[in-house]
Amino acid sequence: MKKRKGIILAGGSATRLYPLTLAISKQIMPVYDKPMIYYPLSVLMQADIKEVLIISTPRDIVTFKHLLGNGEKWGMQFSYAIQEKPKGLAEAFLIGEDFIGEDNVAMILGDNMFYGERLEKILRKANTREDEATIFGYYVKDPRAYGVVEINEEGHAISIEEKPEKPKSNYAVPGLYFYTNEVVAMAKEVKPSARGELEITAINEMYMKQNKLTVEKLGRAMTWFDTGTHDALLETASFVQTIQKRQGLLICCPEEIAYQKGWITRKQLINLAEPFMKTDYGVYLKDLAKEE
Ligand code: TTP
Repeated sequence: MKKRKGIILAGGSATRLYPLTLAISKQIMPVYDKPMIYYPLSVLMQADIKEVLIISTPRDIVTFKHLLGNGEKWGMQFSYAIQEKPKGLAEAFLIGEDFIGEDNVAMILGDNMFYGERLEKILRKANTREDEATIFGYYVKDPRAYGVVEINEEGHAISIEEKPEKPKSNYAVPGLYFYTNEVVAMAKEVKPSARGELEITAINEMYMKQNKLTVEKLGRAMTWFDTGTHDALLETASFVQTIQKRQGLLICCPEEIAYQKGWITRKQLINLAEPFMKTDYGVYLKDLAKEE
């Protein structure tokens, strides 16, 4: 199977979270017991992606390096790049051109969180679609604040509209995109929109014109949060707290995923737990290491 690398786009200006984000990145904010970026990173990991490029602002990139390092501790490889200004999501593929090289790529926004039993299966499926792009459709009551996708019977996208007044479907497009290697060439063709951004929708439209844009529906049992406002941030944190306390299972714990996938050994897991032993997080990792 063709290799797929991952990009986490974790820049932006986060003005909807002011004053929280006046001095630090949104994607480093706590979502209950973890920094926000752990959640999108866990999604890439669940898709079996081990090589990840983290893109952030000149101010914030160093914080992510402190947090995540070179990825070795989780059996992964992390690289870093700067986006000088928030000029749009599609710019990620220009910034990431060398990183992507000859491979396919998945991009996730640093403030998007997904959770659900079937997620891993859905991601695997997207991953195996090597010659086509995959985006996702999340059913929402009022999709007017999102990109909205219309889907035909074969599961291909037939229209995508940014924040439409009259949406053609109830399927919002979350910030997770699986693309072929051609995305780099496509990104070079994108012209800035009226709001001056290189829009991801422009790339999706190019795939759509070739009838190569599959939409995977995220069903009822899936949760998608974007954590961009004060209320959304708190609600997401409460959700994580509620589920974790009830089930005793952590949501989006990179150490756990790395261990389950065999990217780190039991010994490594125990070492990772050691400095965290004053927290439930650390105890959880230690308990994992005890299980057969
Ligand atoms: P947005 O929600 O468009 O923007 P934002 O959250 O940074 O800012 P605001 O609160 O002012 O609306 O961005 C979605 C995600 O994508 C977010 O994680 C930031 C990231 N992003 C970039 O990293 N670079 C960009 O050029 C843009 C547009 C967004």
